[in-house]
Amino acid sequence: MGPVSPEAIVSGLESGFWGEVICYQTSGSTNDIALLHPFNDSGKGLVIVAEAQEKGRGRFGRRWASPAGVNICMSMRISPEIIEGHASFLTIMAALASASALREETGLDVLIKWPNDLMVSGKKLGGILAEVKSERGLVRKAVVGIGINLNTPACDFPGEIADTATSAYIETGCFFSRAGVISRVLNEFGSRLSSVGQSGSGPLIEEIKSLSSSLGRQVSVTVSGSNTTISGLAEDIDDQGMLLVRLASGELKRVSCGDLAEQEGGNRC
Ligand code: BTN
Repeated sequence: MGPVSPEAIVSGLESGFWGEVICYQTSGSTNDIALLHPFNDSGKGLVIVAEAQEKGRGRFGRRWASPAGVNICMSMRISPEIIEGHASFLTIMAALASASALREETGLDVLIKWPNDLMVSGKKLGGILAEVKSERGLVRKAVVGIGINLNTPACDFPGEIADTATSAYIETGCFFSRAGVISRVLNEFGSRLSSVGQSGSGPLIEEIKSLSSSLGRQVSVTVSGSNTTISGLAEDIDDQGMLLVRLASGELKRVSCGDLAEQEGGNRC
């Protein structure tokens, strides 16, 4: 398996949405490189890909570990014209773009654990880390990082996540082209970002509901910013992309951001 080249990624792109695609052998975090890379005035998106990251990070300051040369570590930098309150749609869009690309490329039944985990057979296949810089309530630049366990063999997962993580290779026994998956993720993300400007967020919300592994399940959510954990039935996702959790008391809680655990078993509606 050779390194991913920008040419291979660009050859699979279907629109002029993306400008520069840069591939590194090793980086700190691709999100940091994407944030710091100089701007040009083309208005096009920037893509940073790394074979390995020394400081890969996940949500809530967790480490994102990925063996070199087999998986996808990528960050997309865009300058979306959205208000700060709508930044969570970027996570939803990236999760949908990744799930959709992986479903097409691998045939796996990839679902989304709200708001950002890519799941297959109840195990984590990948995740999204969106980071935005805002000024006066408007998003000025946004970096959306995507980590996907594509070709990792089971023996390469660190012990602490061996039971909860998986890869497309483990699930299928096949190796997949990283450039092919990256191009498809970029196409899917670009088309969703363009269409949200025309059709609004309604179609995105319908799509995330249809691919959600969380809805209809008993969940516990540690709510960001409040240090509280709530438990109940994940009943719906509202038009802002927030999760609606029905507590045992009957009260409906609206959660904008948090760390979610799904109870084993249960029904997905
Ligand atoms: C999570 O599940 O908590 C999000 C994981 C996001 C990992 C990706 S890998 C590429 C990009 N660079 C990073 O440092 N993190 C994201």
